[in-house]
Amino acid sequence: MEAPASKPPQKMPLETTTVHADAIHRIKTAVGERGWTTDPAEMQPHLVEWRGHYEGQAQIVVRPANTEEVAEVVRICAEAKLPMTPQSGNTSMCGGAVPLKNGQEIILSLARMNRIRSIDAENYTMTVEAGCILQTVQETALEADRYFPLSLAAEGSCMIGGNLSTNAGGTNVLRYGNARELVLGLEVVLPDGRIWDGLLGLRKDNTGYDLKQLFLGAEGTLGIITAAVLKLFPRPRAIYACFCAVRDISAALELLDHARTESGDSVETFELISRPVIDLVIKHIPGTADPLSRTYEYYVLLELVSTSKKDNGVGERLETILGQAMENGLVLDAVLAQSEQQRQAFWRLRENASESQKIEGASIKHDISIPVSAIPSFYEAAWKAVLEIEPAARLVAFGHAGDGNLHYNIAEPEGGDGQTFFHKLTEINEAVHDVAHAHGGSISAEHGIGQLKRDELSRYKPAVALDMMRTIKMAIDPDGLMNPGKVL
Ligand code: FAD
Ligand code: MLT
Ligand code: ZN
Repeated sequence: MEAPASKPPQKMPLETTTVHADAIHRIKTAVGERGWTTDPAEMQPHLVEWRGHYEGQAQIVVRPANTEEVAEVVRICAEAKLPMTPQSGNTSMCGGAVPLKNGQEIILSLARMNRIRSIDAENYTMTVEAGCILQTVQETALEADRYFPLSLAAEGSCMIGGNLSTNAGGTNVLRYGNARELVLGLEVVLPDGRIWDGLLGLRKDNTGYDLKQLFLGAEGTLGIITAAVLKLFPRPRAIYACFCAVRDISAALELLDHARTESGDSVETFELISRPVIDLVIKHIPGTADPLSRTYEYYVLLELVSTSKKDNGVGERLETILGQAMENGLVLDAVLAQSEQQRQAFWRLRENASESQKIEGASIKHDISIPVSAIPSFYEAAWKAVLEIEPAARLVAFGHAGDGNLHYNIAEPEGGDGQTFFHKLTEINEAVHDVAHAHGGSISAEHGIGQLKRDELSRYKPAVALDMMRTIKMAIDPDGLMNPGKVL
């Protein structure tokens, strides 16, 4: 997390302003009256990051209704050298979806492009437009007796275009992979306004470079994703959830291994939650409560899934797994969800982790990944490093431990004023990221780089990799019009 940048807005030269004004006029005509707004109140939610840490300015918010309109808008922008910020649900964690402060950009919102174009149940695919809300995509798949497994706490507001552009992760990566692995084809408007139709629903296609990979996780810096062919899976017929207290972090990982091997690898979710997270959620989110009768330091929310129409004993297997883990001292206490309502109650504790931290006050967030085997060592070493900088800091850690991704968040000392803590932001970020790097990890597991980690990227990414990234950017977006100031 970072305080908003405080650079003064840059003045545009007069010629640029005139060219831009003409381009804005043409854009308004291209998308029609429903397709744009300059009303300050309507623009406001598009200018601010959801936690309020980044706020930018823009000339206009444009909402094209279809791919052709997106292409026309981009062509006009390319001619006028008008920079663009693509935006979907604006739930980005790294200031990626809001414009810079200089007010030069247009915001290109995909929100009106929200059609499910088709679903091919037999091919286990669906073709959706970028502005489809993730939850709608999940629900539509279920209606066709299929499953789209991408799942995250923001799924009621984030959109598939944003999910693919951030290569989102979430709670089911262990079993299904992240967003990148759930895509078979893409439709993209390139920075010069050409449309690339790569909407193939093929699991095999070795006809040269896999171009879609360039745009997945590019955070809008290489083009605008307008539609995608998504991979579907058999629908889960039963989900068995348990909330368990584990002895320590190592025990959590032993439990993961045990559950994977003993369940025939049907672990759908394996979320680690440390006690301070539960305390904050119960404190700030009405209707939440401790699932266990006493408190423990670490918990795991574990789910096994069965896709079989017949009862194939997965529920009993979970009970056996937990019984053995308790005998071995890995699990100290556990409760199995007896109903969907109880399962949802477990999830409310996990999914409100971010929201309750936001309400609590200042925190410095870290979205790191490391090999699963390195989690215990990272956890301890990073905490030692943080305490050397801020002895009264509070560790509010949780995350998708099953795939090695931890949200290793540091909250300000109790009773702090926020600002004093933020003075230590760079030092704390570097300390945690250095430890993750030393453990063979990444400084951004699933949230992306955006504005937040742009400058830090060069500290950890090999120079050769950065060089290749810049070469690709130059080749596809030579004028740097796509989401300037983000990633690179
Ligand atoms: P936006 O925020 O609008 O955009 C994200 C980035 O993609 C920006 O750089 C934007 O310019 C670019 N972009 C958007 N649409 C397009 C497009 N069509 N073409 C090209 N570029 C585009 N993330 C996770 O990975 N895992 C989690 O578990 C998770 N949990 C979250 C929980 C909460 C409570 C919240 C608020 C966020 C969470 N996030 C998580 C972060 C966020 O939801 C994801 O990054 C999500 O994928 C962003 O989708 P969006 O539609 O909001 O995209
Ligand atoms: C989540 O998994 O809930 C988000 O990605 C976490 C965050 O707020 O850092
Ligand atoms: Zn996450």
